[in-house]
Amino acid sequence: MKQPKSIDKATGTLAVLLPGLGAVATTTIAGVFLARRGIATPVGSLTQLATIRLGKRTEGRSPRIKDFLPLAGLDQIAFGGWDVFPDDAAAAAAHAGVLDAPHLEAVNAELQRIHPMKAVFYPDYVRRLHGPHVKTGADKAEMVEQLRADIRGFIRENKAARAVAVWCGSTEIFLSPGSVHQDVAAFEQGLQRSDPGISNSQMYAWACIKEGVPFANGAPNLTVDFPAAEELARIHHVPIAGKDFKTGQTLMKTVIAPALRSRMLGISGWFSTNILGNRDGEILDDPASFRSKEVSKLGALERLLAPHLHPELYGKLYHKVRIEYYPPRGDAKEGWDNIDLFGWLGYPMQIKINFLCRDSILAAPIVLDLALLLDLAARAGLEGTQEWLSFYFKSPMTAPSVYPEHDLFIQSMKLKNTMRWMMGEEVISHLGREYHG
Ligand SMILES: NC(=O)c1ccc[n+]([C@@H]2O[C@H](COP(=O)([O-])OP(=O)(O)OC[C@H]3O[C@@H](n4cnc5c(N)ncnc54)[C@H](O)[C@@H]3O)[C@@H](O)[C@H]2O)c1
Repeated sequence: MKQPKSIDKATGTLAVLLPGLGAVATTTIAGVFLARRGIATPVGSLTQLATIRLGKRTEGRSPRIKDFLPLAGLDQIAFGGWDVFPDDAAAAAAHAGVLDAPHLEAVNAELQRIHPMKAVFYPDYVRRLHGPHVKTGADKAEMVEQLRADIRGFIRENKAARAVAVWCGSTEIFLSPGSVHQDVAAFEQGLQRSDPGISNSQMYAWACIKEGVPFANGAPNLTVDFPAAEELARIHHVPIAGKDFKTGQTLMKTVIAPALRSRMLGISGWFSTNILGNRDGEILDDPASFRSKEVSKLGALERLLAPHLHPELYGKLYHKVRIEYYPPRGDAKEGWDNIDLFGWLGYPMQIKINFLCRDSILAAPIVLDLALLLDLAARAGLEGTQEWLSFYFKSPMTAPSVYPEHDLFIQSMKLKNTMRWMMGEEVISHLGREYHG
């Protein structure tokens, strides 16, 4: 890939469009408003807080990423979105129950000004969801056109210079790519005959790409990870990324598993279970939606441990993932992992992880970073799948010829090296011979 010659400045307003104004989206929006006013710190966001080392270790150059990259500032963002419920962002945030009253009250007026646009919603793809705020149209092609008109209208009304989108909608049923997903012409024909292989989220992605709006998928469904979407993204020079935000349990998995593998410690079993009581948990209670999440969660460990290369260590691994809907916990998810591992001469040991996390608190900084980094990617002339953003995803999208990197530390290195490369700085290999004469 060619290094960007120059990156356009982030002037003007950036429209950040979030299909699905639920817990994650409203926590993101409220957090940005609070950070903007200096009331709260955007903890967890690399674009706002992280530093990046440049040059040799002797140079002492470690600027903040936001001072190194020409990113849009938080005060340049205008948020918009779609939902099947007409509630404004203040009401939706209150319903989600993630943020405490003082935080909500501080930004209530700003949140109230965000009204979701009517959703494209065919209920077959999310069976446990029923909402009245939906578009009508003769076929899926017409739905895409309505979404495109929404995007243009939002950009016009907000006098935005550019837009990006991050799917924060509910998890849809498991779909495998079919013939309709193979190229642009097949997908366009599929839209006209309302092909059942084309889900709601795919229509949003299609509309965004056609409008030149970079698109990231935060859920595990088939949305933008198929050949036709890649082809369309290349035609319109749009960066795309996915899928499924890497937040709690999988974040831990992609730290622990590489550690055990790098020490050649064996694993015979890994049992992961969660209790979760928000709307996402309710939707994942439907086996068809759970299947999308299960495939996304299971894949990481298989790739990380490479049992085909180490059959004596991981060939018999039993991996199980459960999610239990348990309303009393709301958004405060609890995850348990039991890892049965073995060491020297096969002697068994165990690790237990009990992560009392907050789902949307972990996801919100990811949404913000993806929005700002995809906007940067577009201004740098990058198009198609942005593998360097793997860091943020449970099931990273890659080029078709390669397997995804799941190891968080490889992903972090890839992310930062791509930032250095984009800005014409030296890529850091960590070889370090130069310090030893
Ligand atoms: N929070 C996390 O840690 C995390 C991690 C990984 C992935 N995710 C994914 O992020 C997504 C959002 O999670 P959440 O907790 O905010 O869920 P949520 O249920 O609170 O919000 C989802 C919203 O999407 C809306 N929606 C569904 N289909 C839509 C459509 N076709 N058009 C417009 N709106 C639509 C729903 O009405 C709802 O308001 C889920 O798919 C979830 O699996 C979350």
